Amino acid sequence: MPVIGLESSAHTFGVGIVDNGKVIANEKAMYKIGTTGMIPAKVAEFHIDNSEEVISRAIAAAGISASEIEGIGYTMGPGLGPCLQVAQLSAKMLAKKLDLKIAAVNHCVAHAEITRHYGKLKDPIMLYVSGGNSQILTIEDKPFRHYSVAGETFDIGIGNMLDSFARNLKLNPAWGSSIEKHSKGGKYLQLPYTVKGMDFSFTGLLTRATELIGKNDIADLCFSLQETAFSALCEATERAMLLKNKREIGICGGVAQNKRLRSMLNQVAIEHKSRFSYAPDEFNADNGAMIAFVAERMLEDGMSTPINKCEIKQRYRADTARLPRD
Ligand code: FE2
Repeated sequence: MPVIGLESSAHTFGVGIVDNGKVIANEKAMYKIGTTGMIPAKVAEFHIDNSEEVISRAIAAAGISASEIEGIGYTMGPGLGPCLQVAQLSAKMLAKKLDLKIAAVNHCVAHAEITRHYGKLKDPIMLYVSGGNSQILTIEDKPFRHYSVAGETFDIGIGNMLDSFARNLKLNPAWGSSIEKHSKGGKYLQLPYTVKGMDFSFTGLLTRATELIGKNDIADLCFSLQETAFSALCEATERAMLLKNKREIGICGGVAQNKRLRSMLNQVAIEHKSRFSYAPDEFNADNGAMIAFVAERMLEDGMSTPINKCEIKQRYRADTARLPRD
């Protein structure tokens, strides 16, 4: 059944349409982050200004008419409150207008599930790395089918850490991808490395690397920041994989677009004769298609939410979200 999905948890207003597990549209409008980072109310205003246009664009790209849509999903959380509200309210309005069942989708689960689909992963250790989150996830069937968190950041998400450092370096754009670009040819500098079991921390690393700005080469700083943070993620993921006895590694979320992190994880997989895989980049960046993808399965599994119960949850954890059957 054609299902539309709306995503607005952070800087992207994304709209995707899925039909029988196949993505038939994935459109977006992205708020441009300047030197200040994201001011939630401003980003929400951007989403309000763009929601109608992106929804129309997605329906046109799918080659269907609005009346053919049979269900709707929206990101319930986690994310920035004012931003989440835009997809929530747009979903409610569309649901009323088109008489649709609604699925309230967990953003982290959506990243992991679209990656399991495109990466052809059955039961992986999933490293979820984005701006606000960094977690190692595995699927558990008890007491209900869900992603459990094997390890996670003690403080900030890896993406947030990389973006903050890009801003501190005054790189343009101030994104983690600029750190990757500037890391080429860098030499390693010793930086704080924190892994405790399967959990990790990035704030000490960010503070120390920021103190070294102006005293060291930018390439050396970017290279060392990435190597240190990514090694911590790989160590924790490897430990989780061995303890949970898994044979597949997946990576999802915005930072899954980083080629260096992917090649390091691939190395971990090779050493343990395991398979490493990920989704195309358009699904690692925030997008509406992943929300539609999970929403379709939720609706097929009877997991709809009455319109008056469609809330947002800024701190909606993956391990509290019920996962639909495959
Ligand atoms: Fe995301």
